[in-house]
Amino acid sequence: MNKPYYLAYEARYQKVFAAGVECWGHSPDDETLVSTLGKWVNENNLAGKKIIEFACGEGACGVILSRSGCRYRGVDIAASAIEKAQNRLRGFPDARVGIMDMVKERTNETYDAALDCMGFHMLVTDHERKTYLQNAFDSLKSGAPMLFFRESYRETAYGGKVDTYEQWKEICGEDYETPSLRCNKSGDQEIELWIPLVPGRPKSKDGYFKEIQSVGFVAEDFIEMDLNNQNPYSASIYARKP
Ligand SMILES: C[S@@+](CC[C@H](N)C(=O)[O-])C[C@H]1O[C@@H](n2cnc3c(N)ncnc32)[C@H](O)[C@@H]1O
Repeated sequence: MNKPYYLAYEARYQKVFAAGVECWGHSPDDETLVSTLGKWVNENNLAGKKIIEFACGEGACGVILSRSGCRYRGVDIAASAIEKAQNRLRGFPDARVGIMDMVKERTNETYDAALDCMGFHMLVTDHERKTYLQNAFDSLKSGAPMLFFRESYRETAYGGKVDTYEQWKEICGEDYETPSLRCNKSGDQEIELWIPLVPGRPKSKDGYFKEIQSVGFVAEDFIEMDLNNQNPYSASIYARKP
């Protein structure tokens, strides 16, 4: 069976960790992430509550949410990132992480809130995006919020159908193989790496709202993010299960 294209991230994590990079994705010290999650937790009274994070990567949000007193579960398809997250979260007894394909598997639990930090935009076909959103929606209690943080955003994003990732590669003009130069810090040291880009799929505001509404979420807010290193053109979308 062919491996799904979104496993490209596992190969990337392996390469960057082997090169000595301490943390590839978000850091638990990212100021915007810390302040956004802090506000979201307070406004929704999530301290002490059960939160699921999809595409949790190396567990930065898990650290932030655990520090805020949330009971955290993180899932990701990349084994190397999950290992990193497990180490990071060792000191928090109410935090757990594990491997899960958020498109093909279900959480089999219900949560008080859900988070997705730059995970949704990694899914490029309409079918996978909708299946994942439906899984996320079904894993929430009624009234629960879901935050999509720093997802790729362009007002001019392609709004047509995408049935296969080969089709998406043609539309976006990028691929999962050609290496490009990326830099990352490890302590004081700057590490340069040639790695494939792993193209995601940006959407417009209307595009995001239509998608989340199509599985039953209420779209509550849309915040365009300032230019940033993690994902230069991005937005955060606030949703809720009615
Ligand atoms: C851009 S990274 C973001 C990681 C982390 N949330 C952060 O902000 O640092 C995208 C993540 O999505 C994960 N991912 C992609 N497709 C997935 C899937 N189908 N199920 C679970 N995780 C997936 C990748 O393994 C990767 O860790």
